[in-house]
Amino acid sequence: MTHRPTKSQLMGLLSLLVFLVALPNLNVVESRRARELHYFQYDAMSCRAYSASLSEFGGVGDGTTLNTKAFQAAIDHLSQYESDGGSQLFVPPGRWLTGSFNLTSHFTLFLHKDAVLLASQDENDWPVIDPLPSYGRGRDTQGGRFSSLIFGTNLTDVIITGDNGTIDGQGDLWWQKFHKNQLQYTRPYLIEIMYSSNIQISNLTLVNSPSWNVHPVYSSNVVVQGITILAPVTSPNTDGINPDSCTNTRIEDCYIVSGDDCVAVKSGWDEYGIAFGMPTRQLVIRRLTCISPTSAVIALGSEMSGGIQDVRAEDIVAIDSESGVRIKTAVGRGGYVKDIYVRRMIMNTMKWTFWMTGNYGSHADDKFDPNALPVIQNINYRDMIAQNVTMAARLEGISGDPFTGICISNVTIELAKKAKEVPWTCTDVSGISSDVTPVPCSLLQEQGSYSVGACTFPEDRLPIDDFQVQTCTYGRRHL
Ligand SMILES: *[C@@H]1O[C@H](CO)[C@@H](O)[C@H](O)[C@H]1NC(C)=O
Ligand SMILES: *[C@@H]1O[C@H](CO)[C@@H](O)[C@H](O)[C@H]1NC(C)=O
Ligand SMILES: *[C@@H]1O[C@H](CO)[C@@H](O)[C@H](O)[C@H]1NC(C)=O
Ligand SMILES: *[C@@H]1O[C@H](CO)[C@@H](O)[C@H](O)[C@H]1NC(C)=O
Ligand SMILES: *[C@@H]1O[C@H](CO)[C@@H](O)[C@H](O)[C@H]1NC(C)=O
Ligand SMILES: *[C@@H]1O[C@H](CO)[C@@H](O)[C@H](O)[C@H]1NC(C)=O
Repeated sequence: MTHRPTKSQLMGLLSLLVFLVALPNLNVVESRRARELHYFQYDAMSCRAYSASLSEFGGVGDGTTLNTKAFQAAIDHLSQYESDGGSQLFVPPGRWLTGSFNLTSHFTLFLHKDAVLLASQDENDWPVIDPLPSYGRGRDTQGGRFSSLIFGTNLTDVIITGDNGTIDGQGDLWWQKFHKNQLQYTRPYLIEIMYSSNIQISNLTLVNSPSWNVHPVYSSNVVVQGITILAPVTSPNTDGINPDSCTNTRIEDCYIVSGDDCVAVKSGWDEYGIAFGMPTRQLVIRRLTCISPTSAVIALGSEMSGGIQDVRAEDIVAIDSESGVRIKTAVGRGGYVKDIYVRRMIMNTMKWTFWMTGNYGSHADDKFDPNALPVIQNINYRDMIAQNVTMAARLEGISGDPFTGICISNVTIELAKKAKEVPWTCTDVSGISSDVTPVPCSLLQEQGSYSVGACTFPEDRLPIDDFQVQTCTYGRRHL
C-alpha cells in the first residue's frame, strides 16, 4: 500500500479547473446542471482514474426496480481500467434494490450518504456458490451457500466506502426461513471478500443482514474502518465483522449492535479447517463499541481449526453484552488460539466479563477427529473495568488439554446486586492474575499488585499499522 500522488488526484484537480473555467459560459439549462456538478472528497488507500455512476448503466433508485444487472454491467465495464488507473462506481442518492453482484480489482464502490442498497428478498437473485473449503459445508445447511450481496474473489486493491451510505440486507424474511427450517442453502452475507489483498471497507452503515455482515476470508491487508452495523438483538447469526483465515487485518472505529458476536475471529471448521490450515494472524481491533446481549464483544472461534494467533484488541466499549472476550472451541477442532492481547475495555451490564469454553461442540459433521485437541495459550487481559456483572468469569478448558498461560491484570469487576455467589468458575486452566477484583479462582494465582503490568501487550507495530490513506477528489456530473 504505497503513498504517492496519483493520476486520479491530478484528474480531480483537473475536473475542478474545468468546472471553474466553464462556469461563466453556462446558460440557464446548463447552470442547473452545473449545480449538480460538485466534487467530493474522501480518504482511501488509492484514488481512481475513472469514475462512473450507476445511473449511467440503467440503474433506477426507486426501491422497486431490480438493479443487479446495472451493477454487474457497470462493474464489468469498469474492470477494463484495472491496469489503467483503476475505477470507481458511484451510487447516487436513492433506494437501489439489487441481488448479489461481483467486484473487480483496483476498484472503488462509493455510496452517497443518501444511497441505500436494498438486498433483494428473492432467492433467484442470489447465485449459489460452493461451500468454503475450510468449512466443508454451509453454516446453515449442508452444501452450497448464497453468494453475498457484495462479493469479490481473487482480487486486489478493492475499496467499499461512502459518506455513511447504507446497505440494508432486509433480513427479516431470511431470519424467518432460518427459524422455520426452510433454507435450502446457507444465508448470504452482506459483504464477502475471498482470496484477496489490499481491501478497505469504510464509512458505511450496514443494517439487517440476513446473516454475517462483513466476511473477509483467505485474505490479507484488510482494513475495516468507521462502519456502523445494526441488527435486531434477536436476529440469528448477524455477526458484525468476521475475519476468517486472514492475515494483517485492522478493524477500528466501528459501532455494532448485533444478534450475535460483534467481531468473531475464525479460521475454519474441524477436519476441513485443519486440512485447509490457514490461520488468522496479525489482527488489530481498536475503538469498537458493541452491544451484543446474547453473544460476545469479541469471539475467538468457535471455528478456529486453522489457528488464531497474534490478536491485539484495545479501547473497547461493551454495553449490555453477554461476554467480553470469549474463546469458543471443542475437541475435534484442532488448531490453536494463542498470543491474544486485550487491554482497556470498559464493560457495562455483562453476564460474564471473561468466558472460555472448551466444550462448544457444534461440529461440521461426525467425521471430526476426536484426537484433534485445540491448543489455547498465552491469553492476556489487562486494564479493564466492568460494572453490573452477573459472573466475573467462567473459564472452562478441556480435561487433559488445559488452557495455559492465561494472564489477567488490573481488572476491576463490579458485580450486580443479583450476581452469582461464586464469581469465578475455573476448570482445566492455568495462569496468573494481578490486581483483579473480585479475587480470581486459585488456578489463576494472584501475584500481588507489584506485578500489575504482568500481562503483556506488544509494543511493536504490525505491517497493517502502516496502512495509509490519501485524499481522493472526484468531480461528479451525474446524479
Ligand atoms: C460471482 O462470482 C462467483 C464466483 O466466481 C460466481 O459463482 C457467481 O455466479 C458470480 N455472481 C454473479 C452475480 O455474476
Ligand atoms: C482464486 O485463488 C485461489 C487460491 O489461490 C485458487 O485456488 C482459485 O482457483 C482462484 N479462483 C479463481 C476464480 O481464479
Ligand atoms: C452513520 O449512520 C448511522 C445510522 O444512521 C448513525 O448511527 C451513525 O452515527 C452515522 N455515522 C456517522 C459517522 O455519521
Ligand atoms: C470516515 O470515518 C472516519 C472514522 O473512521 C472519519 O475520520 C472520516 O472523516 C470519515 N470520512 C468520511 C468521508 O466520512
Ligand atoms: C444491570 O443489569 C440488569 C440486567 O442484568 C439490568 O436490568 C439493569 O438495568 C442494569 N443496571 C444498570 C444500572 O445498568
Ligand atoms: C489500570 O487500568 C486503568 C483503566 O482501567 C488505567 O487507567 C490504569 O492506568 C491501569 N493501571 C496500571 C498500573 O496500568
